[in-house]
Amino acid sequence: MNLPSFLWLWKIAAWSMGLSLTTYAILAISGGWMFYSRHNKLPRPSWLRPFHYGIGSIMVSLVLLLLSIGLIGTIGHYGSLGHSFHLIAGVSVVILVLISAISATQINPKQPWVRSLHIGTNIILFFGFLTVGLTGWTVVQKYLP
Ligand code: HEM
Ligand code: HEM
Repeated sequence: MNLPSFLWLWKIAAWSMGLSLTTYAILAISGGWMFYSRHNKLPRPSWLRPFHYGIGSIMVSLVLLLLSIGLIGTIGHYGSLGHSFHLIAGVSVVILVLISAISATQINPKQPWVRSLHIGTNIILFFGFLTVGLTGWTVVQKYLP
């Protein structure tokens, strides 16, 4: 396939990345709100947890979409994977997002350490998003006209 035919795919990647970062920010705010109300023994609105869960599911879907776009686009263009550091950055973000989502389902009073795992993973995820965004922005340059 010729180069410009892939441009639309990387445009979807860029938009999905913007949406992912938006969901991350909303999760940080809603998660921070739950954290604050728990520590200060304040009532927590009943919609907050399902809201955080719902936005979290959207973020997981977006990251999996980005993974498939990256894999399909790279294999379609080169016929193989592993053409830059972006691969390692991308796979790391996918793994972190899955650890975060799976740990979230295990948060309960009997396993308080899972909450720390969830929060810790998400702090690392911030740097993961930063790296995958910067390296993605770099590799997309060669497809631009
Ligand atoms: C991967 C998608 C995500 C899902 C499915 C998810 C889901 C959950 C769930 C079920 C809880 C437990 C709430 C409770 O204590 O009842 C939780 C807690 C929390 N989440 Fe997430 N979350 C996700 C991503 C994130 C992200 C990206 C952040 C931050 C940037 C975040 C920050 C927090 C924080 C700070 C808490 C602790 C709340 C507390 O201490 O009470 N979450 N999350
Ligand atoms: C969570 C976000 C992302 C994930 C998980 C992800 C994942 C991947 C993966 C696994 C590859 C294959 C890399 C290889 O085998 O060398 C790839 C390639 C690629 N991705 Fe991403 N990506 C993400 C974000 C982005 C963003 C924001 C852009 C920029 C618009 C982008 C642009 C590209 C391009 C242009 C390639 C082709 C690589 C090349 O030509 O060397 N990606 N992506």
